[in-house]
Amino acid sequence: MFVGRPRIVRNSIILTLAILTIWHLGLLSRALPPSSASSSTSSEWSRLEHLMNHGAPRTPSSNSSFDWSSIPFRYPPHNTTRLPSQHKPLPRIQHHRFAPESPAAAKERTKRLVAVKKVFQRAWQAYKTFAWKQDALLPISGGAREQFSGWAATLVDSLDTLWIMGLRDDFDEAVAAVAGIDFGSSTSSRVNVFETNIRYLGGLLAAYDLSGREVLLEKAVELGGVIYASFNTENGMPVDFLSFDAAKLGKGLVVESSVVSASPGTLSLELAHLSQVTGDAKYYSAVARVMDVFYRGQNDTRLPGVWPMSVNMRAGDVVNGSTFTLGGGADSLYEYLPKMHQLLGGGEHKYEAMSRAFLQAADRHLLFRPMLPRGEQDGDVLMPGNVNVDEGGEPVLDPETEHLACFVGGMFGLAGRLFGRAEDVDTGVRLTNGCVYAYRAFPTGLMPERVDLAPCRDRARCPWDEEHWLRERDKRPEWEPHLPRGFASAKDPRYLLRPEAVESVFYAYRITGRPEFQTAAWDMFTAVERGTRTRFANAAVMDVTRAAEELPLEDYMESFWLAETLKYFYLVFSTPDIISLDDFVLNTEAHPFRLTR
Ligand SMILES: *[C@@H]1O[C@H](CO)[C@@H](O)[C@H](O)[C@H]1NC(C)=O
Ligand SMILES: *[C@@H]1O[C@H](CO)[C@@H](O)[C@H](O)[C@H]1NC(C)=O
Ligand SMILES: *[C@@H]1O[C@H](CO)[C@@H](O)[C@H](O)[C@H]1NC(C)=O
Ligand SMILES: *[C@@H]1O[C@H](CO)[C@@H](O)[C@H](O)[C@H]1NC(C)=O
Repeated sequence: MFVGRPRIVRNSIILTLAILTIWHLGLLSRALPPSSASSSTSSEWSRLEHLMNHGAPRTPSSNSSFDWSSIPFRYPPHNTTRLPSQHKPLPRIQHHRFAPESPAAAKERTKRLVAVKKVFQRAWQAYKTFAWKQDALLPISGGAREQFSGWAATLVDSLDTLWIMGLRDDFDEAVAAVAGIDFGSSTSSRVNVFETNIRYLGGLLAAYDLSGREVLLEKAVELGGVIYASFNTENGMPVDFLSFDAAKLGKGLVVESSVVSASPGTLSLELAHLSQVTGDAKYYSAVARVMDVFYRGQNDTRLPGVWPMSVNMRAGDVVNGSTFTLGGGADSLYEYLPKMHQLLGGGEHKYEAMSRAFLQAADRHLLFRPMLPRGEQDGDVLMPGNVNVDEGGEPVLDPETEHLACFVGGMFGLAGRLFGRAEDVDTGVRLTNGCVYAYRAFPTGLMPERVDLAPCRDRARCPWDEEHWLRERDKRPEWEPHLPRGFASAKDPRYLLRPEAVESVFYAYRITGRPEFQTAAWDMFTAVERGTRTRFANAAVMDVTRAAEELPLEDYMESFWLAETLKYFYLVFSTPDIISLDDFVLNTEAHPFRLTR
């Protein structure tokens, strides 16, 4: 009923009525956060706006050809765990007082903000022209490709960025298209549950949180039904790939015997939030069972505190394995532990216990200080590596770091704040600076997908040792003479439009308030835009280790370029009240979920 524009006009009328009503009911003090930040006015406004939109009448709009809520489950998922009702007041995440901005600084910041928005708008326009309602844009040829079931991945993934950038006409147009997505059919017979969850369900929930459009919640519930169907297994563990037609019959699915740990470990935030916004506990309950398996196994692995990269969910075994990483395959399993603590308002102690145990083990075994050519002058940075536990049970560091693992700085920062551990915040800053260093070290200003460095023997002191570096690089067949000193290989020299480095820079900026992180983000942004720009949008780079007038590109633009990378750049140059980390928790695809208090 209230779909007409302009929103702000109708909202101000409804808001006035609503404020009076709520005031009258004496509910205002509960509905509003304790007033604190300088941002309180705008956050009160958006909170009320949100509240009001949720009270708006529902518009029927479901268009899927199959009703996922009607499946006769052979194995009804676990459904007795309820969302915790007790919340603790959580510590403040963002820096308490950002330095006042001079007019010149504000102008410069706004210029950068506009530059990021322009790049987004150009790519969005190309998506609309060449790939509308398809999963991904081919940014060089001007084509499209279905990548994730054909449910318009880029469109759904971009919804909240459109909203945050204030592109309301484009947002409205995209929401109308979302109403027409058919979750009853899929372009692929096997649906990737992890990607469906983080990109689609995360995208719908965040866009709903921000805008309050009911149709987004309806589509989230429909899609929640698809993901819920993946729990129709003998032991209640979710399948990694959902056989689409078999799932509809409800006769039960067979869990894979080996999956990367991030797959089952990255369903919790979205499903818990779906339970929060619908009031239906079944999603949270199903995923709580999975996280209980991780909880019970955490201290029994070969590297207690962290889980092996591959796990066997068919056997409910998350302890057997000897390869450990914070990078691809495992990453967001760890990322979601402190974030679940925050989303649940500290109401479930297991997430704090798991977070603390994991952070300690990761710090001790997986992080390393790389030896840099100018020694101390290059800064005191850390990088995440991998560990293999040998036959004798000894952990052996593999000093390979990858772009995917660059999120770790932000995670340490957030967790450090949540659990009151200043040393973890400091570690987060050093890790963030590790990725900033890696960007700056290459002639293109871009960090490769995977590199090796020479680890220092001592994290406290690390002078350059030429012999040590020569030994490390000569061990590696991938080393090439043009690589910057300090790097022992660039095993994968591509840059795939990934967000993790600027993600950590965003956390570091919001947590410390230090302007050097805005500078770092701007350097990254200009290098990324220069290196990836195509005739229509932006594309992945095949080799960032060699400077060239035009870098070799691949004809592909991942949906996370618009969902994550450009959103984080935009947020670094926004005022800190926009998507404050005290009001929102972001999923692993940068979709902000509003915290309930
Ligand atoms: C889960 O439990 C709730 C409360 O007992 C119930 O209302 C709901 O129907 C159950 N859902 C399923 C799918 O069993
Ligand atoms: C979806 O269904 C509603 C009514 O059920 C209809 O008004 C709307 O036009 C449909 N949307 C699309 C995109 O087909
Ligand atoms: C694992 O060890 C940590 C201490 O490092 C503890 O807090 C946690 O409760 C333990 N987990 C289990 C399941 O016993
Ligand atoms: C543990 O993993 C190894 C392979 O890495 C496998 O051979 C062995 O059977 C597994 N053990 C259990 C108890 O699953």
